[in-house]
Amino acid sequence: MSEERKSWQIKDEAIYQDLAQMMDLENEEIELLKELKPEAENRSREMTEDFYSRLFAHDTTKEYLEGKDMEHLHNMIGEWFVEIFKGEYNEDYVRRRLRIGQIHVEIGLPVRYPIAMMDIITNHGEQIAETSRDPAKAKAAFRKAIALDVAIFNQAYEDKQLKHLVELVGNERLARRLLQGIQ
Ligand code: HEM
Repeated sequence: MSEERKSWQIKDEAIYQDLAQMMDLENEEIELLKELKPEAENRSREMTEDFYSRLFAHDTTKEYLEGKDMEHLHNMIGEWFVEIFKGEYNEDYVRRRLRIGQIHVEIGLPVRYPIAMMDIITNHGEQIAETSRDPAKAKAAFRKAIALDVAIFNQAYEDKQLKHLVELVGNERLARRLLQGIQ
């Protein structure tokens, strides 16, 4: 037996709000992250160097980067990183980041690769948080933001799978049942 779930009713634009709310950031945590923005800007190149070093070290990920303008990609992911410290975790924030997730769906990249990169981002984020006037709280805040990014990447992939399955089988309830493994 499969039940209807409240989360199944949350669709399209409402997902942005749902995810933004899940973050549960306190005002003080937002303040701490904002204060760290200049430090994040200073360190973002170091983060992106580590990031692409790992991707270039593996044939399975390197393949996607061949022929790409790497300077542009360093800048793009650098901006994505610094945005974590802007203190505006609203629907637009989620929408922009979901679009970035979708770009990865569209290049045929398995979701495990972006998610496997989150430790590099977390490592740099935590080093930045260490320079805060309240390192423990700043780290906790940063981890919430990264949890949201993991959720967003997954959401981008799941949206696409569900959309195609709904097109194939004709209705969403059946598609969800199939994804659950119920025939
Ligand atoms: C936490 C993980 C990741 C983040 C935050 C991230 C972020 C980004 C951003 C911000 C862009 C620019 C999007 C735009 O044009 O607006 C981008 C593009 C791209 N990313 Fe990632 N990325 C991640 C993981 C990966 C991985 C694992 C690969 C595998 C090699 C990858 C390959 C690419 C490629 C090839 C593009 C260029 C797509 C195109 O325009 O053709 N990314 N990424």
